[in-house]
Amino acid sequence: MLINIEDLRQRARRRLPKAVFEYVESGAEDGYTLNANRRGFERYLFRARSLVDVSARDQSTTVLGQKLSTPLILGPTGLAGLLAPWGEVLAAKAAASRGSLFTLSTMSICTIEEVAAAAPPPLWFQLYVWKDRGITRSLVERARAAGYHALCLTVDVPEMGNRELDRRNGFSVPPRLTFTNVLDIFRHLGWVLRMSSSPRATFGNFIDTGSLAKKDAVSVAGFTNRQFDPSISWKDLEWLRSIWPGPVVLKGISCAEDARLAVEHGVEALIVSNHGGRQLDFLPAAIDVLPEVVDAVQGRAEVILDGGIRRGSDVVKAIALGARACMIGRPFLYGLAANGQAGVELTLDILSKEIDRTLALIGRPRLSELDRSALRMDLLPST
Ligand code: FNR
Repeated sequence: MLINIEDLRQRARRRLPKAVFEYVESGAEDGYTLNANRRGFERYLFRARSLVDVSARDQSTTVLGQKLSTPLILGPTGLAGLLAPWGEVLAAKAAASRGSLFTLSTMSICTIEEVAAAAPPPLWFQLYVWKDRGITRSLVERARAAGYHALCLTVDVPEMGNRELDRRNGFSVPPRLTFTNVLDIFRHLGWVLRMSSSPRATFGNFIDTGSLAKKDAVSVAGFTNRQFDPSISWKDLEWLRSIWPGPVVLKGISCAEDARLAVEHGVEALIVSNHGGRQLDFLPAAIDVLPEVVDAVQGRAEVILDGGIRRGSDVVKAIALGARACMIGRPFLYGLAANGQAGVELTLDILSKEIDRTLALIGRPRLSELDRSALRMDLLPST
């Protein structure tokens, strides 16, 4: 029975080759931040009100002026197309069908154009800045031409995080056929069969740029460390503005100082995120950084919480602490691996039903009325 996100995770685990599932699961080094993202939500308890008329509930919101039926955004996840053929297209369609929104990663299997052609708006495009600024510019121009609404610049990958599971598995695209991989693939012939209808098994956005080796498999960390520009800094935001006329979102903010700088640079929204614990280990839980960032921003930009969401109650806590919406990564990837588009729709349905139920049970029928008084801030244990 698939009734919660953990059920979808277990289904995904059974259906995917080990190296692919572990690519999704992996955190950096000791996994402190990966686990803290989950544990962080347990520190916040509700302050429920009784005898409130909760017969009409509303979890809709707006993000960057666009109406969402639920405060959930599908975050950018590289290589989602390895979990199901046309994975990014399926996830984008699922988001649209549930009034959510999809963010396409630079490192996707499906291209910018393939996703935009198949899925209705709104779509965001997540950018990594390439050392070759010509390639960066062309990605941005392609996203603009294809009608993406916002550019989401990820700022927490000046160097790829140390994901030891991927290193041990020799994770690469296209998957390298080592002895262990071949054995494991034989146990997942369903995946092999499904993937035979995939458009390709490598990063779609770069097939024509010359930055991908033509025949060889590339290690994901090796490829990105060679291509990503570690010199990018706040001044590059002006350059990005000059080539992108729409809203800019910064993903990966983890302290008040950077939140203030983001606002000073005119960023429309920022995402409190530690990349799902995949980059710097020993950052605090995303939910524990959120209040500091919300206080620093003072309403001058929209704040989105990303990392560790597995229950609707997590979303309600983040909104109560001042987030406008929440981004999810692994939860929708589990759904995608479990059952394609319908699986991602189920992820969104499970979480939004849980949000709805939580709103009823805490006596706050409308998301827009949530504030910190919905939480027992007085009982907050110290970290
Ligand atoms: C990611 N994430 C990510 N972020 C980003 O900005 N660009 C990317 O290409 C990727 N790729 C990626 C792949 C996979 C497999 C995962 C799991 C994550 C990070 C992602 O957008 C998000 O920050 C986290 O997934 C949020 O944490 P949860 O929801 O997975 O706990």
